[in-house]
Amino acid sequence: MKWLCVHKEDHDIRKTIDWNGYLPKHIAIMMDGNGRWATRRGLPRSAGHYAGMQTMRETISMCHRNGIASLTLYAFSTENWKRPKEEVDYIINLVIEFVEDATVLELNQNNIKVEFIGDISKFPLDTQEAMRKVVDLTQANSGMTVYFAMNYGGKSDIVQAIKLCVEEHNDVSKISEAEFEKFLYTGHNPAPDLLIRTSGEKRLSNFLLWQAAYAELWFTDVMWPDFNEQLLYAAIHDYQQRKLRALDA
Ligand code: IPE
Ligand code: IPE
Ligand code: MG
Repeated sequence: MKWLCVHKEDHDIRKTIDWNGYLPKHIAIMMDGNGRWATRRGLPRSAGHYAGMQTMRETISMCHRNGIASLTLYAFSTENWKRPKEEVDYIINLVIEFVEDATVLELNQNNIKVEFIGDISKFPLDTQEAMRKVVDLTQANSGMTVYFAMNYGGKSDIVQAIKLCVEEHNDVSKISEAEFEKFLYTGHNPAPDLLIRTSGEKRLSNFLLWQAAYAELWFTDVMWPDFNEQLLYAAIHDYQQRKLRALDA
């Protein structure tokens, strides 16, 4: 019976993954669709951002449970400043809420380290302080690293890296790819293996332009607040199948 098989497959997708085989070490997620999720329910867009924040917490926890070493979350792009001030302020305040003490405690209990990528100097001082606080308080953790992309843009990442790199090298002809990428916000961290975008859009929207050069891309029509563990497994499953196919080729 087909429906039974489909249901079973959906339900047991975790079991279809070989957890000793090829797994993404670094997952990057474009958490898109909060606004549409809310509008479809007759709610203000802020309700979508709030719900998206809860999904983000759960996603950090599910990645951690499943042994993912690094998770990069696109939370606020350099283009997102163009949104109405009220919406921008709401999103920024959510970040402060995230770094409240209860969250830090939870991160520390789970051995999770937090870092930010992007130009955070453009945020209000109290926001920057809250960001530095969570980074400082979780620095010693080694279980998983979560990179929040805040005021992040792939183009500005590359431009700021060029400036720093040229400052350090008298002879620009000696700059190699490996040398250059140390100056990106992501520094020495490994590049993402798997890039997930929710909401049905299939663009990079200025995310990790350099770093995603070889990432496997995975899209779902589901809006970010509805993202769940089954979808994470589906993405990991597809990633593994693609890697196996590449080996066979
Ligand atoms: C993603 O959801 C969250 C941020 C960009 C901060 P959106 O706010 O872009 O939601 P849609 O794409 O308008 O539905
Ligand atoms: C990308 O989503 C940025 C984040 C998820 C933070 P956007 O909704 O801002 O991107 P566009 O405008 O659809 O390209
Ligand atoms: Mg969007």
